[in-house]
Formats: sequence, C-alpha cells, structure tokens
Amino acid sequence: MAKMWAGRTAGNVDSLADQLNSSLPVDCRMYKQDIAGSIAHAAMLGKTGIITGEEAGQLIEGLQGILADLESGALAFDFSCEDIHMFVEQVLTERLGDVGKKLHTARSRNDQVALDMRMYLRDEAQEILSLIRQLVQVLAGLAEKNQKAVMPGYTHLQRAQPILFSHHILAYAMMLLRDRDRLTDCLKRMNVSPIGCCALAGTTYATDRDFEAAQLGFDSIALNSLDGVSDRDFCLELLSCFSILMMHLSRFSEELVLWASWEFKFVELSDSYTTGSSIMPQKKNPDMAELIRGKTGRVYGDLMGLLTTLKGLPLAYNKDMQEDKEAVFDALDTVKLCLQVMIPMADTMTILPDNMRRAAQQGFINATDMADYLVKKGLPFRTAYKITGEIVADCIRKGLTLETYPLEAYKTFSPLFEEDIYQEIDIENCVEKRISKGGTSSASVAEQLAWIRTQL
Ligand code: ARG
Repeated sequence: MAKMWAGRTAGNVDSLADQLNSSLPVDCRMYKQDIAGSIAHAAMLGKTGIITGEEAGQLIEGLQGILADLESGALAFDFSCEDIHMFVEQVLTERLGDVGKKLHTARSRNDQVALDMRMYLRDEAQEILSLIRQLVQVLAGLAEKNQKAVMPGYTHLQRAQPILFSHHILAYAMMLLRDRDRLTDCLKRMNVSPIGCCALAGTTYATDRDFEAAQLGFDSIALNSLDGVSDRDFCLELLSCFSILMMHLSRFSEELVLWASWEFKFVELSDSYTTGSSIMPQKKNPDMAELIRGKTGRVYGDLMGLLTTLKGLPLAYNKDMQEDKEAVFDALDTVKLCLQVMIPMADTMTILPDNMRRAAQQGFINATDMADYLVKKGLPFRTAYKITGEIVADCIRKGLTLETYPLEAYKTFSPLFEEDIYQEIDIENCVEKRISKGGTSSASVAEQLAWIRTQL
C-alpha cells in the first residue's frame, strides 16, 4: 500500500528498508496514549475553530471506536503501517473518510511521538513506584519480624562489627525510598507537554497548547518548540533512575546469593524462587537473585545506548530518535519484572537467626568494643587500638576468642582490664550500645523503622 506520506516520492519503500524504518511492533504498546492524545488534539482543533465542532465530535467518536475495537480485539494492528501514529490515522481515515484526514492539522508526528512517550512513561512509572513501595513494605516487615536477630556486619566482606539483621535490611529500604524520590522528581520534568511544537517550529494555526496539555493532565507545556520535539532527556533521566534502582536490587541480590550459600546460610530462599541443577541433585540455586543482578547490566546498557544515540544529533528531530523506545521499554519491562520477583522472593525467604548469631561469634567482631573499653578507662584511642590488635593476634596464635581469653592474660597487656571486659564485649551488648542516631541498637533501628513507615 502507498505510504500516507506519499506525494513528494512514490512512497514505495524497499521492503528491507521498510523493515528498518518501521516502529509499529515496538510503539504499538502506546496505542492508548496515542489515541488519548489525538482525542485531546481533536477537541483543541474544535474549540479553537480550526475545524468545526461537528468535525471534532466525529473525530473523537471515531478515535474512541478505534480504542474500543483494539481493546476488544475487533481491530488488529496492521504491521504494514510505519508506526502507531500512522496506524491510528489510517484506520480513522478508512472509517471517517475526509474528516479523518483533518486530525493531523497543526501537529506532526514529531510532537506526537514525544507526547505519547511522556504519557506512556508517566503512567508506567506509577506502577514502578507502587512496586518500590511494596518492596519497602516487605523489607520493613522482615525487619520487624526479625528485629533482634544479630549478624556480623561486614566491610571488605570481612566480619567487622555485630549489627542487627533488621538494621542491615532497612539500609535497603532507605535506598529504595531514595529511588522512589528520584523517580518522583524525574516525573515532574516528564510531565511537560510537547504537543503543539509541531514538526519543529510551531504552527501558523491559532492553536491552544495549554488547553490540550491540561486535558491530558500535564502540568505545563514545553516553552521552546525545538526543545519540545528533540530532547529525550526525560527518557535518559528515567533510565538513570532505573539504573540506580537496579544497582540497589543487584547489591541486595548479591547478598541473597551469599546468604543462601552453605558458607553463610543466613537465609533459605523459598523453592518458588530457586531452581535445581540438571546434574547435581543436591543443588538449590538462587537463579532469580542472580538474574536480577545480571539484568542490571542490561538496564545500564539501555542507558548507555540511548545516551550514545542522542549525543551527536543536530536539532531538531532525527529518525535516530525512534531508537529511544526500544531502550526505554526494555529497561522498563526489566525493572518491572525484577521488582515483581524480588518482592515475593524477599517476602517468602526464611531468616535463620541462629546461623547469623553463630557467624557473629567468630572473627573478633567485638574488637572495636574492646578498644573503646580501654578508651573509656583513659587510654588514647590509637594506643587502645594497638593493644587490642596485639590481643587479637595472641588469641589467633592460641586458638582463643576475645570471650575465652583469660583475664590474667588481658592484664599482661594493660592493667586497665577488669572482669567487666567480658560484659563489654558481649555481642548483644555491643549491638545495644550503638545508640547513636542511625546506629544498630534496637532502639535506633526501631526509630529507623518508624520513620520508614511514615514514608509509606
Ligand atoms: N516512529 C517515529 C519515532 O518513533 C515517529 C516520529 C516520526 N517522525 C518523522 N518525521 N518521521 O520517532
């Protein structure tokens, strides 16, 4: 079939060129937004007298019919059409005749596609926000249910100081709340309407861009038509938010992989979120956590790809920009699926506090507390630090822990050591003493949890 834009050329594009050019398989998912945008456009054309009120009414009714038929399945996408905009206009014209041909007055596909993208992503981002919220809720629940479980806190993946498991888990809740805030902030800049920028330079018709934008729920309109049709920074911002969110999910996934290993066994993942091995009968593999970690690279790739696509483009619209959709949709679908799996996986995992506690007992995790003990008795911190280090070395030589090291031996290092050292380095006590704001004591963690709940 001849192209809708045939005229200057015959419109008979080579079939492989047509395949390269076509974006309908990708952009058909924006049909609702495309039709809603067209309905608002028709209403604006009618209101301003650019077309008659009757014509506007016919267009709106026709567009509503197309939407209904697509939803019911009565109408299927015609993949010989170049993109979603052409498809809708073609069906409208088939159904309404010449009136259908009036819809594209005072607009261009350039402002139309920017409009559709902003509307589509704005809607989808709401779902991501709700999923983030659910995940924070699950994490808060895990922290609440296991408030007192003690585990080793790590730096360099070496046991560092004892912490509450709930403290560790709430660290992720904090990160996710910032992911939510970043996304919310990015939505503010996304919610600016480009429609009416037309091809690039605006239009000679007396349009009402504010009316059209308001009808579609936008906060404001793009104030420079070239900018409105040619920037995709809203896509990049979204991809950046997604990348950071995935980085957080990936770090959490990495911990789940470690924690589910026999070396740690801090958690047992539910069978629903693990797989077996085709050869090793004993295996229970944390594939979902690994895949979330793995898919993070894919989302970064989407961001890098689009940054690269855009970097050399002269103003205004260039067809390269059609590539924005594949990148953004891929990232969106990936993030959504990862969150949808992460939420129940975290919710259903079994926490094994005894194993955590046992791990916290090893590795001289209370050495800082021993140094602090000496400081409280008057030694400068650096001196206390050195003495404690030497005691740890002696324990290692003798196969002892700080808890089992005899008082007489302690006294050979410093006369300041007394019987109360054992209470001071008691693991639970080490945790409970960390009452500083944001610290790991149960009082402090309860405060963190309460704050997180106010954010939900
Ligand atoms: N399918 C195109 C895209 O996604 C729509 C805009 C086409 N504009 C144009 N002048 N060819 O970018």
